[in-house]
Amino acid sequence: MADKHKEPAIPSDADRAAQEIESLREQILHHNALYHEQDAPAIPDADYDRLFDRLLALEAAHPDLLTPDSPTQRVGGAALDSFIQVQHEQPMMSLAKVFNEEDLVAFEARILRQLDSDQVPWYSCEPKVDGVAVSLLYQDGVLQRAATRGDGVTGEDITHNVRTIGDVPLRLKPVDGVELPRQLEVRGEIYMSRAGFARMNEEAQANGERSFVNPRNAAAGTLRQLDPRMAAKRPLCFFVYGTGLVHYAAGADGTAWPGRLSEILELLGRWGLPLNPDRDVVCGYQDFLRYAQELLQKRDALDYEIDGAVLKVDELALQDELGATSRTPRWAMAYKFPAEEVSTVLRDVEFQVGRTGAITPVARLEPVFVGGVTVSNATLHNMAEVARLGVQIGDRVIVRRAGDVIPKIVQRVDPTDDPEPETRPRRPIEIPTECPACGSEIESDGDILYRCSGGLVCPAQRKEALKHFCSRGALDIEGLGDKLIEQLVDAGLLRDAADIFHLRKEQLLTLERMGDKSAGNLLAAIEKARHTTLPRALYALGIREVGEATAQALASHFGGLEALLEADAEALQQVPDVGPIVAQHIAIFFDNADNREVIRRLREAGVQWTEQSARTVSDALAGKTFVLTGSLESMTRDEARDRLLALGAKVTGSVSKKTDHVVAGPGAGSKRDKAEQLEIDVMDEQALLDLLAKHE
Ligand code: IVH
Repeated sequence: MADKHKEPAIPSDADRAAQEIESLREQILHHNALYHEQDAPAIPDADYDRLFDRLLALEAAHPDLLTPDSPTQRVGGAALDSFIQVQHEQPMMSLAKVFNEEDLVAFEARILRQLDSDQVPWYSCEPKVDGVAVSLLYQDGVLQRAATRGDGVTGEDITHNVRTIGDVPLRLKPVDGVELPRQLEVRGEIYMSRAGFARMNEEAQANGERSFVNPRNAAAGTLRQLDPRMAAKRPLCFFVYGTGLVHYAAGADGTAWPGRLSEILELLGRWGLPLNPDRDVVCGYQDFLRYAQELLQKRDALDYEIDGAVLKVDELALQDELGATSRTPRWAMAYKFPAEEVSTVLRDVEFQVGRTGAITPVARLEPVFVGGVTVSNATLHNMAEVARLGVQIGDRVIVRRAGDVIPKIVQRVDPTDDPEPETRPRRPIEIPTECPACGSEIESDGDILYRCSGGLVCPAQRKEALKHFCSRGALDIEGLGDKLIEQLVDAGLLRDAADIFHLRKEQLLTLERMGDKSAGNLLAAIEKARHTTLPRALYALGIREVGEATAQALASHFGGLEALLEADAEALQQVPDVGPIVAQHIAIFFDNADNREVIRRLREAGVQWTEQSARTVSDALAGKTFVLTGSLESMTRDEARDRLLALGAKVTGSVSKKTDHVVAGPGAGSKRDKAEQLEIDVMDEQALLDLLAKHE
């Protein structure tokens, strides 16, 4: 009874820390197992790192609570029983991380202090490749064994799988000058190229097999297969970044072994091991920072995923002097780039209506910093994707944003793996029964695509159609941007494209933030747009499946709009690249009385297009795909594009393996880099002019 009035014991700071430490260790061990043993991480690296860093901080603040079995004392991931365990000759360490310039300054200052030197060190720099660390043991130049890192001391024998990787030499090529060591541990990263990953996932999906979330999981999953025939089929690659044991037999001449890491890498390269082409050697942290920034710039153009840049003191004598802690060397650092995958909470899902009525689920997220920007919306693509992800409103989800690509949701985090659990009600994502913009009925082709049946009655479709009509590849009306179009539609001043040409200054002046000058400029731009080309006019109409290249092909084939209006599906299919489906979309579009009326009113408003006589059209460049980047002097990029299109070429916005030529003017950036990487022809303006002159 007396107990009833006893105050509950107030937990001390140390008690609370002990509890949190215990919980963190449990979570970390659980995630280690998922990541290293099952290749199925449940949370993004960024979340894992937060848990790990928190544990490190708590243990540093309470050294008495640090135990030898804490996950911070191991590198992570025990070896699987089904694989033979192997002892590394020298332990495989991990890298400490830095996130900003300040951390780098501190790193370098610490090194200089420890070396008692004021001589800024040289650093060997490499991309931090997002793959799987391996150690390859060569005996007299012959590959004996390949192992995963495991806990750093003991790994798993994956020789059977690594032997299937074309990049990994089974025998090193001897070269003059340096004898091959009796035993050599080569350290590096096995990874899957982005292109290989995309291809593999497409195939897996087509065969109804499980697809992987990212290239790293795919690489790890492949290496853990017991049957090497699987690895042989997968596009695995390898980069070497260092060595472990280097042992020369008694009597052999090991004196020529280089004294710098960069020289060791060159030597390994001459022996036939693949070096990362994006490595460099720099002096001091400032130059390293420049290297890292350049690397970050080309991150998206690389054919392998990276999560940062690594800097390592180049001189081995200095490395030895600096030594290592229990987990990480003191002479190296990983400079981490902003994570491209992070977790956040799915707060709601809204449905957006596109130009052709297609309805897309869009995720509204708890704002989160990912890929260098704060993101609060992400695409869910379609309802089939929602089903595949098994995601509901209220779930914690993983958002991916790489480069300029639209952020997307790639995975649902299992609630038991939620690092910040919170009780949130779950609510299924349901497609609305009527269009959220106009209330029209929604049509479906099954369970993937849903479309608003409202056509141009639907304000959302109308806005999108008008945005398309004014866009750069279409009538290119400067100043008539997305926001203004929305305002004009909402104000009832625009219903269809023809209305644009009837806008009056006094109407424009009623809009918010529209002054006399901007209204005048806008009207001048509209006036200019009355004179356009047939391909642009056709593209601007927004016919389903008719992009710029098809519009050009139609214009070339028919010469004028009259002939095209009269063409039936069969005649349309005579046009190169127009198949039965596109032909049907075109025929339906021109059969529609509303569409014909808009065309009539456009003409009535004085909109004119040059019929195809202005420039002779040929197919001299048919089948060739161009990308234009940087600025041109003698013409605008749009003009260059029109002229290429008129020669039958395709012009696209991004460089891929399908690109044949990249035209790069001053200021060209990542597109040129990517072209060079993919070994695609890069031409300057003069080369383009020569090419045009030859064919026009
Ligand atoms: S050096 C002692 N260099 O990053 C040096 N590591 O925690 C240890 N990684 O799992 C590694 N690219 O697999 C180094 N160029 C690179 C790397 C790299 C990727 C991975 C490595 C390890 C992790 C370091």
